[in-house]
Amino acid sequence: MRVIILKNYEQVSECVFNHFIASFKKNTRDNFVLGLPTGGTPILFYEKIAKNQVDFSKIITFNMDEYIGISRDNKNSFYSFMNENLYKKVNIKPENINIPNGEAMDLEQECKKYEEKIKLYGGIDLFVGGIGTNGHIAFNEPNSDFSSVTRVVNLTEKTIKDNARFFNSADDVPKTAITVGISTIMGAKELLFMANGKNKAEAIKQTVNGAADKLWPSSFLKNHKNVTLVIDEAAAILL
Ligand code: PGA
Repeated sequence: MRVIILKNYEQVSECVFNHFIASFKKNTRDNFVLGLPTGGTPILFYEKIAKNQVDFSKIITFNMDEYIGISRDNKNSFYSFMNENLYKKVNIKPENINIPNGEAMDLEQECKKYEEKIKLYGGIDLFVGGIGTNGHIAFNEPNSDFSSVTRVVNLTEKTIKDNARFFNSADDVPKTAITVGISTIMGAKELLFMANGKNKAEAIKQTVNGAADKLWPSSFLKNHKNVTLVIDEAAAILL
């Protein structure tokens, strides 16, 4: 695992942006298949993409996860988040945007279809992600299996508490979600993860120095042969 430690959030976001551009330019396929996260961490990365007007005409995106129990028009759905922060600001074709549908009548079928669609496109070229304070990657919470694929999951109390800042109260945070699995993430050709702030320090310590273990899902990242972790000094204090 390549670990890059930078001064602050701005530098982390700039580095992740530059890394994304370099991977995109290296791509020799007709399309570039990009896995994307939501949350507080990627916001500046998305701002940089929009500001630089990156050409998304050949990019196909797959978002990592989506809440169940709120409509996609709700401002806190990941669908709304992605529209506001990225999709409405770039020239991506609507048909190239993939976000799990948390309102699907048959959620099991939705998960199966999502996993199959990723395969249909030949897999993810670059998966960009964040890391939760409890080490979750996408919504793969502690105790997720290494072999897990796209599925419905229960969110932990910790994640609900962490994400309450986006809602009126913790009670409003959905309790379940659809998430890609750890094996879906590990199946990408390249991984680019980022974290900033001292509240991520323990998760970063477990990710970098700990053994690959279900209790800290992000610790599995080190098993990938092409993974870069970009963090700020605050997130690196326990290394
Ligand atoms: P955050 O979440 O970016 O809002 O801190 C990270 C994550 O849950 O992956």
